[in-house]
Amino acid sequence: MRLGLVLVAALCGLGAARAETPDQRAKALMAKLTLGQELALLHGNFALRAYDAAYGLPPAPPVPGALGSAGYVAGIPALGIPALQEVDGGLGVSVPPDAQDGHGSTPLPSGLALAAGFDPAMAYAAGAMMGREAFERGFNVLLAGGVNLTRDPRGGRNYEYLGEDPLLAGTLDGALIRGVQDQHVLATLKHFAMNDQETNRQFDNAVIGEAAFRESDGLAFEIALETGHPMAVMCAYNQVNGQYACASHHLLDDVLKRDWGFTGFVMSDWGAVHSALDINAGLDQESGEEFDPVTYFSTPLAVALSQGKVARARVDDAVRRILRAELTVGLMDHPPVRAPIDFAADGAVAEQEEAQGLVLLKNTGLLPLSPTVRRIAVIGGYANAGVMSGGGSSDVVPKTLPQLLPVVQMGEGLAGIYTRAILDPDAPLAEIERQAPGAEVRYDPGLYPSQAARLAKWADVAVVFAPKWETESQDVPDLSLPAGEDALIAAVAAANPRTVVVLETGNPVLMPWLPKVGGVVEAWYPGAEGGKAIARALFGRIDPSGHLPMSFPASTDELPRPVVPGQDAAPGQITPVDYNIEGAEVGYRWFAARHLPVLFPFGFGLSYTSFRFSHLRLGPGLGVSFDVCNTGKVAGATVAQLYLTARNGVAMARLAGFARVALAPGETRHVSLTLDPRVLADFDVAADDWALPGGTYRFGLGDSAADLTEGSAAHLRAQRVAP
Ligand code: BGC
Repeated sequence: MRLGLVLVAALCGLGAARAETPDQRAKALMAKLTLGQELALLHGNFALRAYDAAYGLPPAPPVPGALGSAGYVAGIPALGIPALQEVDGGLGVSVPPDAQDGHGSTPLPSGLALAAGFDPAMAYAAGAMMGREAFERGFNVLLAGGVNLTRDPRGGRNYEYLGEDPLLAGTLDGALIRGVQDQHVLATLKHFAMNDQETNRQFDNAVIGEAAFRESDGLAFEIALETGHPMAVMCAYNQVNGQYACASHHLLDDVLKRDWGFTGFVMSDWGAVHSALDINAGLDQESGEEFDPVTYFSTPLAVALSQGKVARARVDDAVRRILRAELTVGLMDHPPVRAPIDFAADGAVAEQEEAQGLVLLKNTGLLPLSPTVRRIAVIGGYANAGVMSGGGSSDVVPKTLPQLLPVVQMGEGLAGIYTRAILDPDAPLAEIERQAPGAEVRYDPGLYPSQAARLAKWADVAVVFAPKWETESQDVPDLSLPAGEDALIAAVAAANPRTVVVLETGNPVLMPWLPKVGGVVEAWYPGAEGGKAIARALFGRIDPSGHLPMSFPASTDELPRPVVPGQDAAPGQITPVDYNIEGAEVGYRWFAARHLPVLFPFGFGLSYTSFRFSHLRLGPGLGVSFDVCNTGKVAGATVAQLYLTARNGVAMARLAGFARVALAPGETRHVSLTLDPRVLADFDVAADDWALPGGTYRFGLGDSAADLTEGSAAHLRAQRVAP
């Protein structure tokens, strides 16, 4: 009894201490810091020594205290301020194999697979899985949370991000960030802003009007910020309207901190700082100082302070923001605890994400394959070895760094950095064999179309795997499949029309052979268990129920910029990228406004079953409801998409709401959504606010931007949308 009382008293004591807010605790810590200690918290290292040479950095000893990842900011142990151990990335924990157990971590599929699932719960699970693995590896910051919109389908990092629509991308990114931070690991919303192409990325000047920015890329960041509450934001390499993003008072102070109420800290991208005075624009921390000519936020910042060019209050504010972020996410109260990664559980998350993200683009009835099929030809794409992943800082070394992990030289990155492709070692071939135990399965690497065609002729069905590697630091020159894959597919399909193509790409591709094949599945970069997910979908064990998060154009001629700007720029040459051409009309909105044909529209995706949408009701207010029924014979899922199609008689195309719905055959689900007024409104620059014009709003409901089967209209009153 007595012991019980003592315990209660102790717990109450603990409770009282913890009742202090992060701000109060940050204030108490600040009172103990010297200026020198404050400045030390404002800059950090690139600590991946193994990659120095690849980045052109001089050899250097390991950074004391650092775990050896992309970023490290020393802490102040005497005050309980932890070091920031920062690890990439958005698709899993991107770090060399663990020194203790020799294991890597779990690669998630491409962000596009996540986006194709249209499922915030899946995004949360993916974030939580990455956050957990980071924590178990000893990291407390995950440089994850990329939400740049796909403005160019040749963009080298599109595969990391979440597609071309701000509502979809922002909603999923917010859920992913929550998943990360719930593990007491700081997430990093990035790359703010307009880092929408890789070509010449450090010297692009993204030119865009304020309203167009707020309604497109800005809206994606805004939604992710308010739904995910990331406590760090990474500013981008490029300029925006003539000002480097990390030195943009407008972006960092006016928009991010004032208008959006961001209370965390802004860290620079690695090598994106240009002066100690960038702190005056709202930049709080210089990352990867080895990439800058000097460590600006060290001595040069101290000098600027002494000369009165930087106010002490600004430095204090930057430090307070960092401490507040650490305290809010729990970095001090819940330091990382090293533990073995549960690869089976985490692989299941990766597999589910891929299963939901597989997009069935064409099916003449060939799919799902019958388990009784006798002769199967599996062709190309390293399907005997694994599945493709994208390159750059988000690339993940999988669990077993096998001696035989195929690493393929795929050409020079623009900066000469990223020149290898990792195949995640879950071979589709092995799982195809498991799915069809009675069949004879033969593999051909697809190097010679004539030889592959001979095998296809022998087979009842041919499955061709077609990967296209993409990477950070370079865009691809066009939308074709590389390395003769188009010719390979054409030859195989000519030999046997019962051909299925499985694309492993990080962007849309053209498909000159499309009319000749029986099926096409877009598998993106499939992740740790990708081979299993693909094979199970091919045999109908799961419904490939993803829908495209980006339009597949019919040609590059129809893009806002048929040629990627800056391709021939001299090193260091500032190159304008005119985003005012499309403004906020990104992706499907551009194609709709110009009545341009596409190969496959945004939102498109077939299924092994069929669905009917009905009873679309608008109101009260911004409420919407409808029914979805599975009218087919097997269980499956669809993505119901509601688009604003006209406002006061003016045609528009804006995704206004979505719901992923999984249904048993014959089952009906009633779906209710509340629309975000900003996707219906315009950004009013003069008022620095959103304005929803009064009048008639027409909506369409369907399963792609181009197939709206239900329509309805509502009258809305003019209103301001509170930020
Ligand atoms: C990338 C960031 C990444 C950082 C650290 C930069 O080059 O743009 O996304 O987090 O490197 O690796």
